[in-house]
Amino acid sequence: IKVYVPRDATALSLGAGPVATAIQDEAQRRGLDIQLIRNGSRGLFWLEPLVEVETEGGRHAYGPVTAADVTSLFESRFFEGRGHRLHQGLTEEIKELRSQQRLTFARVGVTDPVSVEDYVAHGGYEGLTRALAMPPAAIVQAVTDSGLRGRGGAAFPTGIKWKTVLDQPPQQKYVTCNADEGDSGTFADRMLMEGDPLMLIEGMTIAGIAVGATQGYIYLRVEYPHAHRALNEAIAAARAAGYLGPNILGSGRQFELEVRLGAGAYICGEETSMLESLEGRRGEVRVRPPLPAIKGLFGQPTVVNNVISLASVPVILARGAEFYKNFGTGRSRGTIPLQLAGNIKRGGLIERAFGLTLRELIYDYGGGSASGRPIRAVQVGGPLGAYIPASQFDTAIDYEALSNIGALLGHGGVVAFDDTVDMAGMARYAMEFCAKESCGKCTPCRIGSTRGVELMDRVIANIDRERNLQLVEELCDTLLHGSLCGLGGMTPFPVQSALKYFPEDFRKSVQ
Ligand code: NAI
Ligand code: SF4
Repeated sequence: IKVYVPRDATALSLGAGPVATAIQDEAQRRGLDIQLIRNGSRGLFWLEPLVEVETEGGRHAYGPVTAADVTSLFESRFFEGRGHRLHQGLTEEIKELRSQQRLTFARVGVTDPVSVEDYVAHGGYEGLTRALAMPPAAIVQAVTDSGLRGRGGAAFPTGIKWKTVLDQPPQQKYVTCNADEGDSGTFADRMLMEGDPLMLIEGMTIAGIAVGATQGYIYLRVEYPHAHRALNEAIAAARAAGYLGPNILGSGRQFELEVRLGAGAYICGEETSMLESLEGRRGEVRVRPPLPAIKGLFGQPTVVNNVISLASVPVILARGAEFYKNFGTGRSRGTIPLQLAGNIKRGGLIERAFGLTLRELIYDYGGGSASGRPIRAVQVGGPLGAYIPASQFDTAIDYEALSNIGALLGHGGVVAFDDTVDMAGMARYAMEFCAKESCGKCTPCRIGSTRGVELMDRVIANIDRERNLQLVEELCDTLLHGSLCGLGGMTPFPVQSALKYFPEDFRKSVQ
C-alpha cells in the first residue's frame, strides 16, 4: 500500500511530520505493509497535511489530517479509499486542482521528489534527452519560440537572454539559478525545489548545454532548509544516474551543479547582488551594463534565471515550443504558477495559462477572504507590487494587462486584504521594507526610504498632512527615476497605488 505524506515546508509546518510518524506506527501495530512516500505538496494548503493513498481507482486524498486522526483513518480502512470525514475523494478530481493546467508543477506532489526513477517514469529527462541530440543554437531557438519570459518578475524573454550568452566567444560560462525567493507571499520556487527538484536540475543542465556552460550554481535563500536538503539529495541522485557530470548519458557533454546558500538579504535576489554574494562578497548591486549575460559570475558570461523559468524549460524541449506557446494570451505565453496568500480561505499554488482574471483566482480558487469580509485589495508581485482595488479584479493575469493598470505580475504572488486593512499603514510598510533591505549603494533608496517612513508617520499622525503627502509623491518620483535597481525603483508602486485608490485611508482623523 502506497501512502503519501508531504515533506513540503508548508505541510511540515502544519504537522505533516507527526502525521507521517503516526501512520507508520499505526501500520506497524496492525501488521500492515505500507510504503510511506514523502512527496511534495499539491499546493492545496487548506487541506494540508494532505495524506494520499494509492488505490486501483487512483489516489484518494484525506485532509487536513492531524496525528490524532490517524487511528480513525485506519479504522475506516482509508487505504482502500473508503469514506471518512476527512475524505476529499480522488485527489485529481478536487475542484481546485482539476481545473489547473499544470506543466511546470505537473509532478509536484505526485512523485517522490528525489527519485530519478520516479522522475523518469513520469516523463522526466525527456527534454534533456532531446536537447542532447540538438545543436546548441536549436535549443536556444526552441526556448525563444516557446515565448517563455522570465518568471522571476522581469518577464525578459529567456531565449534572448540565453542567445546573448551563447553568442559570447567560447570561454568558461556559468548558469546560475536565482532561488532567493524573497517576495512576501511567494512560494512557487520553494514548492518546486522541495517537490520536484529534478525538474530544476534538468532545466539548468539543458541551459548549460545550450549556452556552452559547464558549471551551474543554485543560489538558495538560507531560510529554505527543506529545499536545500531536497536539492542536494536530487543532485546526488542525478549524478549517480549519469544525468550530471563530465559525460552526461555518454554524450560527451559536461555539466556540474552546486547549491550555495545566501545569508538572509532580500537584495541578493537582485541578479548582480546575487553574483557578488556568489563570489563571496557583500551583496551589493553592480551597475549594469555590463549585463551578466556578457560579464557575470567571476566576470564570465552567465545565465541568471529564476527557478520557475529554468523549470519551465524541460517541458518545452520535451513537448515542443509550439505546445508551450499554445497556452496563454497575447505576449504572455505558457503557464504561470500563481501563489495565493494573505486573508484568503483557500490559499495555495495555482498553475494556469496566462489570461484568467484576478476575480477568478481570488474567488473561484481562493473562495474569498478567510475572515468572511469583503476583499478590498490584493497586492500582486510581492512587497513592491501595486495594490489593486476590487474595482479592477476583472483584469486578466498577464504581463501587459497588469502593466496597463499600473501594476506588475512580478513573481506571481497575490496577497489578499479584507476591508479592515489600513492602506496608509501598508504604504508606510513599503517605505520601511525598502529602508531595511536597501543595500545602501545609491542615495534615493538609502536615504529616501528612511525619509519616506518619517513622512508617512507624519501623515498618519496628521501633522501638516497635505504638505507631507505632497512630499511623499515627490519622493516616490525621485525613487522611481533615481534608483539604481528595482528595490528603490519599485518601492513607489505600493505607495502610489495605495494613495491613488484608497486616498481616504491617508486622511483619517487621529484618535
Ligand atoms: P530587468 O528588466 O532590468 O532585467 C531582466 C533580465 O533580463 C535581467 O536578467 C537582465 O540581465 C536581462 N537582460 C536585459 N537585457 C538583456 C539582453 N539584451 N540580453 C540578455 N539579457 C538581458 O529587471 P531586473 O532588475 O533584473 O529585475 C526586476 C524584477 O525582479 C522586477 O520586475 C520584480 O518583479 C522582480 N523581483 C523578484 C523577486 C522575487 O523574489 N522573485 C524579488 C524582487 C523583485
Ligand atoms: Fe541598493 Fe537601493 Fe540603490 Fe538598489 S536602489 S542599488 S538596493 S541602494
